[in-house]
Amino acid sequence: MARIGLLTGGGDCPGLNAVIRAVVRKGINAHSHDLVGFRHGWAGVLANEAVELTHATTSGILHRGGTILGTSRTNPYGEEGGEARAIASLEERGIDALIPIGGEDTLGVARRLADAGVNVVGVPKTIDNDLAGTDFTFGFQTAVQIATDAIDRLHTTAESHNRVIVVEVMGRHAGWIAAYCGLAGGADVVLVPERPFDIEEVCDRLRRRHATGRTFSIVVVAEGATRSDADVQTQDGGTDAFGHVRLGGIAVELEHEIERRTGFETRMTILGHVQRGGTPNAYDRVLGTRFGVAAIDAATAGNFGVMTALRGTDIELVPLDVALKAPKLLDASLFETAEVFFG
Ligand code: F6P
Repeated sequence: MARIGLLTGGGDCPGLNAVIRAVVRKGINAHSHDLVGFRHGWAGVLANEAVELTHATTSGILHRGGTILGTSRTNPYGEEGGEARAIASLEERGIDALIPIGGEDTLGVARRLADAGVNVVGVPKTIDNDLAGTDFTFGFQTAVQIATDAIDRLHTTAESHNRVIVVEVMGRHAGWIAAYCGLAGGADVVLVPERPFDIEEVCDRLRRRHATGRTFSIVVVAEGATRSDADVQTQDGGTDAFGHVRLGGIAVELEHEIERRTGFETRMTILGHVQRGGTPNAYDRVLGTRFGVAAIDAATAGNFGVMTALRGTDIELVPLDVALKAPKLLDASLFETAEVFFG
């Protein structure tokens, strides 16, 4: 029996509650642990704000989006004495091991705390699916389905009006969501961060398509995609605690440039946080549950400094270092498959 802390950090993601429920259920039933949930990611650790997690407080949450614990992009290493304060909170609450559920930033903090002697087992989370060491993160499949549903809807209105519609999806470093929903939704062009694009080439593809009798087109663009002759599009508002700028707006530019260069009437839609909200699909509930069970088992076995990972169809543990070395970029072969259907 031990006292295990949990937290959810960074952007929220469908499936977080499935992980929390699984950790708590297995932790209590199989290992007789006490479970403590820190509120709002690392902010709750710094402020020592936490709640006891029990069967009662975690029932009925499997299908719910968001996170019952709340989340934030707080970075203890960006604050004066942050590491010492975090460790002091954990000691005060008698935490034997901590399970942070998050992406590169949250797990980056976890790794530094592990170096400072804290027992951590990470769980990878991001709709962007760009964490190394795992084939998929939970939340990604739900986001892809939401984006695909949106493309299906945009298709019919694009067709009715003979328009080009540009759909902007999330994907800061990697074009996983763009490639998957582009393939599933039958996009005519997909633009991803891994491949800076030439705007005139994009217009040429659309011109060729429209020259063969097609009167509408769908262009999917990841928020982190860039023109080969320009920088990434950002919004005003500076950076977050981990130094990330706020992306978004490449679709606005594409709408303008495509219409100006080709003469085709063009509209854009930015899907934004719709992709992160709402109920997780079955795949993400199952993956989140499997990660949660594996994380609490690893913590019970004293297997620390690791992250749960999906490898093929198996759940494994990988060192946090493996996950944090570099973002997992889009498979070239997947993009090439999407490209077959361009133009
Ligand atoms: O979680 C990653 C992500 O979805 C990125 O694709 C996006 O740039 C970012 O979150 C936006 O998050 P927020 O607006 O919540 O800070």
